[in-house]
Amino acid sequence: MPVRAWFPTLIHCEPLQRAGLVRFNAELAEECRRLREFDAAGRRWSAKNYPGGYTSYASMNELHRFSSTFAGLERQLLRHVRAFARALDMDLRGRSVRMTDCWANIMPPTAAHSLHLHPLSFISGTYYVVTPRGCPGLKFEDPRLSKFMAAPPKLPGARPANRPHITYPAEAGNVILFESWLRHEVAANRVDEERISISFNFNWA
Ligand SMILES: [Fe+2]
Repeated sequence: MPVRAWFPTLIHCEPLQRAGLVRFNAELAEECRRLREFDAAGRRWSAKNYPGGYTSYASMNELHRFSSTFAGLERQLLRHVRAFARALDMDLRGRSVRMTDCWANIMPPTAAHSLHLHPLSFISGTYYVVTPRGCPGLKFEDPRLSKFMAAPPKLPGARPANRPHITYPAEAGNVILFESWLRHEVAANRVDEERISISFNFNWA
């Protein structure tokens, strides 16, 4: 094999746990909607920065410290983060790994989330709570895109790993993890129902 792949970009996607997801997601969805009612500062911030949607990103971004439901989510996510870090050959022996930020996102019809990354953490991700059929997925961008210079376009039948973007469908109960520097976005929600997700950052010490 004369050609081999190096410097891979890894993305982890798996159900949060084997059983009990429907009930757990119903609890999380209710808490997210209650949070939106209660969090006036978050609604104001969202009106300016997240048009049409609600996020607690700037107001209530440590939900795992205040809610036992979200603390339960943190415990489950930690297993996935450790497995992902192992797949990346990260040396976390004797280190602590913890969730530093955790916030809720509610995207009614038309809400979108433009291209961004997650500073001040090493692994970030999203957990899907409510995902109506046809709602937008999570679109990742090739981190080398700014270095492509004179690269020609890709063939219509290019292998997915060689394309400049990959979109993971949003599926309730799934957790998606990526290294925090990987840029991603969510296209506008074009279905009638709202989509609910929880985003988070992990760091190590
Ligand atoms: Fe994000």
